[in-house]
Amino acid sequence: MSEQKIALITGANRGIGFETARQLGQQGIKVLVGARSAENGKEAETKLRNEGFDAEFVLLDVDNETTHASAAKYIEETYGKLDILINNAGIWIEGFENGAPVPASRTTVDIFRKTFDTNFFNTIAVTQTFLPLVKKADAGRIVFLSSILGSLGLHSDPASPIYNYKVPAYNISKTALNGYAVHLAHELKDTNIKVNAAHPGSVLTDMNANGDLSLEEGAKTSVALATLGTDGYTGRFIHLGEELPW
Ligand SMILES: NC(=O)c1ccc[n+]([C@@H]2O[C@H](COP(=O)([O-])OP(=O)(O)OC[C@H]3O[C@@H](n4cnc5c(N)ncnc54)[C@H](OP(=O)(O)O)[C@@H]3O)[C@@H](O)[C@H]2O)c1
Repeated sequence: MSEQKIALITGANRGIGFETARQLGQQGIKVLVGARSAENGKEAETKLRNEGFDAEFVLLDVDNETTHASAAKYIEETYGKLDILINNAGIWIEGFENGAPVPASRTTVDIFRKTFDTNFFNTIAVTQTFLPLVKKADAGRIVFLSSILGSLGLHSDPASPIYNYKVPAYNISKTALNGYAVHLAHELKDTNIKVNAAHPGSVLTDMNANGDLSLEEGAKTSVALATLGTDGYTGRFIHLGEELPW
């Protein structure tokens, strides 16, 4: 079994996932760059290696369970364990009309299903496939990239800054993901594994053209949750060290 810490980040070829890989690499952690495109994944691997980090592309399409199994088999055979799993890959496929998101009454079931497939159901499938490998690590860490937009507490509060930011399928997929994080954390509470949900902030990426945080800031919450010490918490929803309401 590898002595070095091994981290797998889904959707690590660009955006917050790529920067998370870079920051974990800076800590001497071996980063497995999960990507659904071999071309983009290898390009990300090369960039990280050129910066001096121990990075390796692993083919992982969240929406294709065959790739979950092949990636897990490879990691098992090569490293024997997985210390960190960061479920970072996510999609936002909803459109806007007249500058506002399509409301809940008219967001199609097809949009809900596609969004939930990637952000929720298939993220659960990834987690379940890799959990046996995380259990083999001394102190496993599982991070779910959620969003403050998944917070029902804030969506119900007229004083909250996100009160009027109702993007139904995306937001509710993150609410559901939060629910899964809470349940998995509870199941694993008496183990060495910590499971937490991250809100990265509003980060300027391809997904969020209005983001006001840099990638560097945006990756910090994922990195902090991935590297929590043995006295760290589990089952929380965190943004830059602050707890958010579910
Ligand atoms: N940016 C923000 O302000 C913000 C705020 C809150 C939460 N988040 C969450 O943070 C995470 C990263 O967001 P981001 O802003 O970095 O997004 P992004 O720039 O759009 O990058 C998304 C990443 O996910 C990958 N991905 C999407 N579907 C995939 C699939 N089926 N299998 C494998 N990879 C897949 C993409 O791969 P391809 O290149 O192949 O498409 C890409 O690498 C997401 O979960 C997002 O919901 C972001």
